[in-house]
Amino acid sequence: MVPGDGTGPEVIAEGLKVLKAVSKEYKFNYETKVFDFGGERYLKTKKVLEDSDISELKKYSAIYLGAIGHPNVKPGILEVGILLKMRFSLDQYINLRPVKLYNPVFCPLKDKGPEDINFVVVRENSEGLYKGMGEFQKKGTKDEVAIQISYNTRKGVERCLRYAFEYCRKRNKRKKLTLCGKTNVLTYAWDLWQRTFDELAKEYKDITTDYAHVDATTMWFVKNPEWFDVIVTDNMFGDIITDLGAMIQGGMGIAAGGNINPEGVSMFEPIGGSAPKYTGKNVINPLAAICAMGMMLENLGEPKAAKAVEDAVIKIVGKKLKSLAAGKMGYSTTEIGDLVVDNLS
Ligand code: IPM
Ligand code: MN
Repeated sequence: MVPGDGTGPEVIAEGLKVLKAVSKEYKFNYETKVFDFGGERYLKTKKVLEDSDISELKKYSAIYLGAIGHPNVKPGILEVGILLKMRFSLDQYINLRPVKLYNPVFCPLKDKGPEDINFVVVRENSEGLYKGMGEFQKKGTKDEVAIQISYNTRKGVERCLRYAFEYCRKRNKRKKLTLCGKTNVLTYAWDLWQRTFDELAKEYKDITTDYAHVDATTMWFVKNPEWFDVIVTDNMFGDIITDLGAMIQGGMGIAAGGNINPEGVSMFEPIGGSAPKYTGKNVINPLAAICAMGMMLENLGEPKAAKAVEDAVIKIVGKKLKSLAAGKMGYSTTEIGDLVVDNLS
């Protein structure tokens, strides 16, 4: 467990409360260890994440992360030094982000319900603009140039696309996979993505394939979200469209994701940040963290327990909560954790 910064520890505590209850019900054991990576430790020690920390993390079955980001630390240091370092060093090359509306009342779109908003974004999580390649030229002069490279390898693109095709098949809903890109402008990167996508599609004849430019994708998220089943995209576009996805499913309070290394250690996290202004007030919504814990159980081979967690969340989101936003839920953070536990069966 990496509770991290801000409200991270509060939401992780609720996730653990639910884990404890569900493990009794479904009869499995687990052990936990807490790592103190985050802003506080950085301010005291100047340490972000050492290579030895990574070797240590590799010994575990999964990582459960709260939030990384501290108001007294310059943006970028903790995000790159801790969060991205974990994603990259553990080769968590998929960022899996389900977008599922549990209660139409919490959807900002007119006339859209749970039957319309139920798709999954498969975000490439190890390359693209996040690779950190680039340079300044003539820094600080009026002729300054800042270059940021989108790095896409055939192997990296192919393993992400293959994961998406397999995931779409296993999900077995509409069996439709949409490639979200920008082939009309980013003619090197997206040529590679499109070619690889088309090649793989021949191996997956049962999957209907589709393509949408990223700008159009944001339009469809609002206008016709029901068109999507599984979407596969690169790291940067995936980052952007999943914030919009979170909003149409009811907000950051409910949006969960998994950083997946199918052959290694995966990490599960609520998509929202550390929310400094709500820290320590017992008002943050822990459901995103609880849903992330559910995704972790699914990934660790406890699908029944995972489903019980999701069903409990659906029940309380459907009946009890006034809102999914921090401070407006009609319940405190800890009360929401209790409600999920009470609704587990
Ligand atoms: C996310 C976040 C991160 C990202 C930041 C905090 C580095 O926005 O998980 O979506 O850009 O991937
Ligand atoms: Mn993001």
